[in-house]
Amino acid sequence: MIRKKIVAGNWKMNLQLNDAIQLVEDIAAEAKDILDVELLIFPPTLFLVEIDKIKSHLKVGVQNFYPKESGAFTGEVSISQIKNCGATHALIGHSERREIFQESNELIKLKVDSAIEHEIGVVFCCGEPLSIREGNTQSLYVKQQLIDSLFHLSNSEIQKCIIAYEPIWAIGTGKTATIEQAEEMHCAIRMWVAECYNQEIANSISILYGGSCNASNANELFACPNVDGGLIGGASLKTETFISIVKSF
Ligand code: PGA
Repeated sequence: MIRKKIVAGNWKMNLQLNDAIQLVEDIAAEAKDILDVELLIFPPTLFLVEIDKIKSHLKVGVQNFYPKESGAFTGEVSISQIKNCGATHALIGHSERREIFQESNELIKLKVDSAIEHEIGVVFCCGEPLSIREGNTQSLYVKQQLIDSLFHLSNSEIQKCIIAYEPIWAIGTGKTATIEQAEEMHCAIRMWVAECYNQEIANSISILYGGSCNASNANELFACPNVDGGLIGGASLKTETFISIVKSF
């Protein structure tokens, strides 16, 4: 089975509505002939409805949601609401949610279940902080994140997930993982999927790299056998750099 190549843009809490619409239109136009790479955009949730009208062949997802159907959860949006507004994917377990908003592995697991239940594609983020990398225990750390919040899924459910490895020390710092570090972790993640499920499933799951991935390093990162694309933050906010990353396979 050939794995999907995917490039996803995580816009975080950036841009105003007009800029966001312009960016989607420009990316869609520039990428109109790129059919072998799946393009995912994660704009601020508030912009979903407008972006849905112009997204063309781009897929759009949310950076966050709350895993309850409806009710008294002031300030939150549910997965069925975001689906109703055109989202097909959700980022779950991003390190900024884990660190700034104190999201636990348990809450992340509930989000995974809610997304799966509503047939929303999961982009599950994992990755170690600098202290863990310095202690050389990153494998144990990342494996545990997967066990705690993702690997309870069934064989058919896990196949609806994309995994994004994002070492926290590389996010927004300009310090990218080396190709050896990225490939080593991606290879390990695929092996753990094979151990928990089977090799065929492991071979079918796209594993994205994230963390200061940009137009100059995407090429060598995407050339790694187990790197199937990228989750891009800062460099996804400009059409030129994003498209150049998309063309880096
Ligand atoms: P960055 O962010 O590309 O700006 O490092 C990546 C991410 O947080 O997904």
